Amino acid sequence: MKRFKSQVIRYASLPSTNTEAARLAVQGAEEGLCIIADEQTAGRGRLQRSWLSPKGAGIYFSTLLRPLIPLDQWPLITFVAALAVSDALRVACDLETDIKWPNDLLAGERKICGILAEAIETPQGRGAVVGIGINLTKEAFPADLTNVAISVEEATTRHPEKESILAALVEAIAHWYSALQEAGGRRKILEAWVARSSYAEGKWVRVINGDDVISGITRGVENDGALRVETSAAEMRIIRTGDVVSVRPAS
Ligand code: BTN
Repeated sequence: MKRFKSQVIRYASLPSTNTEAARLAVQGAEEGLCIIADEQTAGRGRLQRSWLSPKGAGIYFSTLLRPLIPLDQWPLITFVAALAVSDALRVACDLETDIKWPNDLLAGERKICGILAEAIETPQGRGAVVGIGINLTKEAFPADLTNVAISVEEATTRHPEKESILAALVEAIAHWYSALQEAGGRRKILEAWVARSSYAEGKWVRVINGDDVISGITRGVENDGALRVETSAAEMRIIRTGDVVSVRPAS
């Protein structure tokens, strides 16, 4: 099994910690490289969105992995990251969070963290850059997102200890990444993820994927982390991309 040995590089400002981690990966950086920036000027989110990253308002973190796991397990790297953030916020801030498929962390139904995992090709083989953005203060997101976003400061009513969160995060990534690579690791990750996600089972959701919008109730996850959604027509849809939102039950 490959051990995650962290090597942290800090920057005052970067366009994107994911882009910097990918650049260094192509130059041969080892697994465990962690890039942290005080601000990002071109932070990126899922589905080509931007991620606002003002100075000091959030954690902007990326790590490089070079997993030797079957390709169909690669989507579980996002699950590893979500479990690690969940642990870190619990350990460092005493904050319980919910995981929304595939990779948002929620506090009281509002988003506190987003994860962007990207596969990259390097001369040393395929790697993954896992980017994590955690809202520390309300300045991390635009005021008009107050109803859907929240910060650690608001959720805990305490000033967040950024360094404690980062230390707990790196430790938790090492733990869950090791778990993924152990015998039976896939099952362990899936079970832990399902146990921490109210979205895994029995949640009424709408799934938006471009023009394709479906509504239904969640029925667990596939072995590769895809979400099962049973529609009102009793059809089981397997969701691999898109946005999931919680909705009121169909009457
Ligand atoms: C999302 O919810 O859409 C994912 C957001 C991921 C943001 C993080 S911040 C650190 C890393 N660098 C980036 O450019 N993006 C990720």
